[in-house]
Amino acid sequence: MRAVRVMVGLVVAMVVLGAACHSTARTGTPRVVVGASPDVGKDRIVHYGCGACHEIPGVKGAEGLVGPPLTKFGKRGTIAGELSNTPDNLVRWIRDPHGVEPGTDMPNLGVTNDEARNIAAYLENLQ
Ligand code: HEC
Repeated sequence: MRAVRVMVGLVVAMVVLGAACHSTARTGTPRVVVGASPDVGKDRIVHYGCGACHEIPGVKGAEGLVGPPLTKFGKRGTIAGELSNTPDNLVRWIRDPHGVEPGTDMPNLGVTNDEARNIAAYLENLQ
């Protein structure tokens, strides 16, 4: 029994450490947003109309030119030139762009934390 518990502990530790490594990787494997769903994120991107201002690969009709294209977003080093590109920072930007960069043309859209995490999962997967 004890050995089994130690094994389970090791497996959990490996999964957690693995996820942590992925989330800071600069290139190659996508940054993982733990517990979030890229598919749900894509649905939320459509819901909030992000495509009216951004070109977003894989999202029908997302060809806006007001904001920068989000092509290969998972490979970018920074977000809006202000924050390093990590899932947490992306969630922060999506929820409150004006808090990060007062005066930016990107509006605060009232995105919830869960929705922003799913959207971040979709965008960080764009390679
Ligand atoms: C009214 C137009 C508009 C809408 C709607 C909009 N954005 Fe933006 N977005 C912008 C602009 C403009 C910028 C550039 C901000 C800056 O650098 O000051 C931007 C920047 C960004 C960036 C950083 C891009 C980069 O190159 O670093 C991301 C990511 C982003 N938006 C995601 C989203 C998501 C996700 C949504 C939907 C929830 C959304 N935006 C809705 C206008 C918009």
